[in-house]
Amino acid sequence: MPFKQAPSLMFFSPLADAFPRALNRLYRTCNALKQDGEPLIDLISGNVNSAGIVFPEPVLRDAILEALPAAKIYRPDSFGQPTARQAISDYYRQAGLALPPEQIVLSPGTSLSYLYCFKLLAESGDEIVCPRPSYPLFDTIAQLCNIRLASYLLREHRNWEIDLDYLESQLTNRTRAIVLISPHNPTGAVASECQLQGVAEIATRHGVALIADEVFSEFVFGLDRLPRPAQTQAPLVFTLNGFSKMLALPGLKLGWIGVSGEPALVRKALRTLEMMSDTFLPVNEVVQFAVPALLGGAPSFLIRYRRKVAECRELAVSALSHARNLSLVPPAGGFYAPVRWTGSDLDEEQLLVDLLQECRILAHPGYFYEMPGTHFVMTFVDELDRLARALDALVAFAGARESTAALSQEP
Ligand SMILES: Cc1ncc(COP(=O)(O)O)c(C=O)c1O
Repeated sequence: MPFKQAPSLMFFSPLADAFPRALNRLYRTCNALKQDGEPLIDLISGNVNSAGIVFPEPVLRDAILEALPAAKIYRPDSFGQPTARQAISDYYRQAGLALPPEQIVLSPGTSLSYLYCFKLLAESGDEIVCPRPSYPLFDTIAQLCNIRLASYLLREHRNWEIDLDYLESQLTNRTRAIVLISPHNPTGAVASECQLQGVAEIATRHGVALIADEVFSEFVFGLDRLPRPAQTQAPLVFTLNGFSKMLALPGLKLGWIGVSGEPALVRKALRTLEMMSDTFLPVNEVVQFAVPALLGGAPSFLIRYRRKVAECRELAVSALSHARNLSLVPPAGGFYAPVRWTGSDLDEEQLLVDLLQECRILAHPGYFYEMPGTHFVMTFVDELDRLARALDALVAFAGARESTAALSQEP
């Protein structure tokens, strides 16, 4: 007998109707061009491998081969293999941060680390405060965790600095954590020690944790070292990082959470993270055993990698800073920059659709990141000659439009 048509609600949670979302005009145009076989310059993916940055193959091969015997007999550790955690702890020690291996939990990447932290800190209806502009990953993770996102503002006219007063005004008795991303995606802002001190004081006053996303920590321009939330007096800090950006190895799916702060809070956080991690034992054991050799082989690669990213940034800043109808806060770190449209008022998404159709360049409109004003967001990390061509095309595209130079109001 045939089944009767049943309403989908009988089968699924509301999540099933929340994904996938409808494609916007920009991506409909992009897909149509791709279907026609048009070559596009993707200034958004942030996949550094396609920008020609690839971890040295001999180091990777040796690290994996040497890790195989250790991984042959399965002896999992719910925090992650101690040798991997020791190597990560050593990495931080060299950068001036004491993060013992017992306070590090491995994860399959920073996105999953966020999920662990959100689940650990917040229950249904609680709030986590994220920066705005910000990138859309948080909406999805918050939806999966059934928690609410609030936001604090990064102010463009102050070089995308955190507005501390506004941040504090957004905290309620349901707030459980503040997310800090430094270097920040997509503004390129790096929070100063003084700013982090201010955030730590707010966290202390309100009894909330800090989640510090440092995936771009190796790419800071013009500073000797990155100021870190874990070096403040905040009561509880989760430091997130991994090999995805740091070593240009996103496919290895190796991330971690470093927990620091008041000992009793750290102990409690670690107990729960251990249980969560033990439920899935999620990181490939070969990759875990390869961590010491990968980090050991990284320094000379990182010198070249940082130099290339800095060269790309220089090229983008010099091309875009004086371009007609455009302005740019030079990024202090990371791979991305929002370029402000200072020309006559126009529809932001249409601007990006025009850029795609006329120049075959894919960038994102600022509204994807809840950015006030009219912007396009782009990565500046690419092959230098392709980046130079894209920048020339962008500058010509912007220069050909009408100009009125109006700075719209920020909230
Ligand atoms: C700021 C930031 N955090 C986290 C991630 C995700 O990192 P992972 O690849 O380790 O999940 C990204 C990816 O682009 C990112 O830009």
